[in-house]
Amino acid sequence: MEKATIKKIGIITSGGDSPGMNACIRAVVRTCLATDIQVVGFYRGYDGLIDDQHVELTTDKVSNIIHRGGTILKTARSPRFMTKEGIYMAINTIKKHQLDGFVVIGGDGSFKGALALSELCPIQLVGCPGTIDNDLVGTDFTIGYDTAINTVVDAVDKIRDTAESHDRLFVVEVMGRDAGLIALRSAIGSGAEAMLLPERKDDFESLISKIKSWRNSKSSRIVIVAEGDESGGAIKVADAIKKECPSLDVRVSILGHIQRGGNPTCMERVNASLMGYHAVKALISGKSKVMIGIINKQPAFTPFKDAVKHINELYPEMLEILDVLGN
Ligand code: F6P
Repeated sequence: MEKATIKKIGIITSGGDSPGMNACIRAVVRTCLATDIQVVGFYRGYDGLIDDQHVELTTDKVSNIIHRGGTILKTARSPRFMTKEGIYMAINTIKKHQLDGFVVIGGDGSFKGALALSELCPIQLVGCPGTIDNDLVGTDFTIGYDTAINTVVDAVDKIRDTAESHDRLFVVEVMGRDAGLIALRSAIGSGAEAMLLPERKDDFESLISKIKSWRNSKSSRIVIVAEGDESGGAIKVADAIKKECPSLDVRVSILGHIQRGGNPTCMERVNASLMGYHAVKALISGKSKVMIGIINKQPAFTPFKDAVKHINELYPEMLEILDVLGN
């Protein structure tokens, strides 16, 4: 690879962790080293930049991490970085290390932070989308999403075994604070009978009529509920189902943070590696304030200001597929 004019960059992981972040860090570091760029990692997101908690990232430091969940740089949501004072402290660290560029791996909150930093500091900044929720514009898949939905499908397969043995209905709650994309894909992939998503209003009423119409024809039932759904979560949904359909034997399973951990899937590792590689190439070519996504297998560059949560944009066909196949 040709040598770059930028000499030194910083990198953080920020916001909720997601499997594949390590693969992305590794790709950034190794692409930089191949072009004679030094890399400094800061711990715990923007907090590490404020407090100058750093590590020189050599090739050895990123050996044997591609398969590991979590992030070797640790992560945090930093209230201090939301203040001017915090941003100025971070700028002091950037100056001290003479950084020309910066890579932020995180979600839309992390990119908002990067934008705020760019208003006060001329450094080149790019981002890689890291969140299990897949709720960002500008990429087909965020880092962590594929692993999370596979974790959910694996868990629901196991729940199905016990549900089938006892003729039970399980309400399974999955993550997705504002978006139902984890619920949608994992519901289709696990053969769930129904799902509740924040993007669909009043779907609880139709769930009840659906349950009443199919409750005697099948032994087990799985209803996937996104945590951000207006129904208020799996426990409330299960209570309401019990009230409306007292003959059903209903159980709840809240999958929680197991969805954020675990070894990234192969697809995840490859996507995260591509994003990390293209992040460095983007810095070298002079790009700034963009998120690097992958759309139709090609790198896509979305300005930070547009790389926001995309809510209410579920493909109608995907919703219909579950309704058709889950019956
Ligand atoms: O944004 C990712 C996510 O996993 C959401 O799905 C979830 O609501 C949230 O983070 C939980 O965050 P934490 O427990 O880390 O505060």
